[in-house]
Amino acid sequence: MANYPELKGKVAVITGSSKGLGRAIGERYAKEGMNVVLNYRSSEKEMEEVIRGIEAGGGKAVAVKGDVSEEGLAEKMIEKAISEFGKMDLFVNNAGVQVEAKTHEMEFDNWKQIIDVNLNGTFLGVRAALKYFVEHEIEGNIINMSSVHEVIPRPGYTHYAASKGGVKMFTKSVALEYAPNHIRVNAIAPGAIDTPINEETMNDPEDKEGLEALIPSHAIGKPEQIAAVAAWLASDESSYVTGTTIFADGGLSLYPSFGPENK
Ligand code: NAI
Repeated sequence: MANYPELKGKVAVITGSSKGLGRAIGERYAKEGMNVVLNYRSSEKEMEEVIRGIEAGGGKAVAVKGDVSEEGLAEKMIEKAISEFGKMDLFVNNAGVQVEAKTHEMEFDNWKQIIDVNLNGTFLGVRAALKYFVEHEIEGNIINMSSVHEVIPRPGYTHYAASKGGVKMFTKSVALEYAPNHIRVNAIAPGAIDTPINEETMNDPEDKEGLEALIPSHAIGKPEQIAAVAAWLASDESSYVTGTTIFADGGLSLYPSFGPENK
């Protein structure tokens, strides 16, 4: 589906895009006629498959290997965008990880890993994108992948919730700082989406049913539904939108316990 003709020929960089939401966003952007620079950390085979799929559909995609928590990857991805496609219009900070741990038993290394990838990785991507946009006076666009856990507390994953809360306020602050440059910065907060990050839940019928019961619409989201939000945020249709988080969560962030089924 190509809904936004103005996206044709634009260039997007997307971190963590060998699977899950990053992959779906890359595929959707390619369908819109955008050229995409993807990123994988270790899964080279999966990445090649994604690129082959995009090329089979007539799109253009290249990939850069690397870890978003390491300084230099974001710059490498932007350099790749310039060398392959001549420019960069949009940077999507998507890569993210989660590991369950009780807070009183949490290893400091575990805490640091989550903050490093989800929050520090987002900072590194945003900084590199801003530097490029400001130096070239480009009215660029940045999208950060947050989560409903930027507002919903998450026991067992307190580091994850802290990282996404950080992404929320970082997104807003950067949006305000660069609004005079006409650089837009927004976040997407997915609810529960069927991607490899939720593999265990999806493969356990009882857990899956429990999750569906928790979501007001009783539907686990599809990656394409998040990619649709990312396409709209990339498009001119959202040209006046900056510093906000778009929730795509089937109502998960609406205090479900107040819902009609719990009366
Ligand atoms: P996933 O586990 O299916 O995919 C994550 C991608 O990020 C993979 O391609 C992985 O290789 C990559 N990645 C992980 N660490 C990396 C690193 N250090 N450097 C480079 N790449 C790295 O996860 P999913 O579901 O696609 O999640 C994507 C984003 O969406 C994450 O930020 C996650 O927190 C967020 N999210 C996902 C939700 C869901 O239900 N699937 C809900 C809310 C937010």
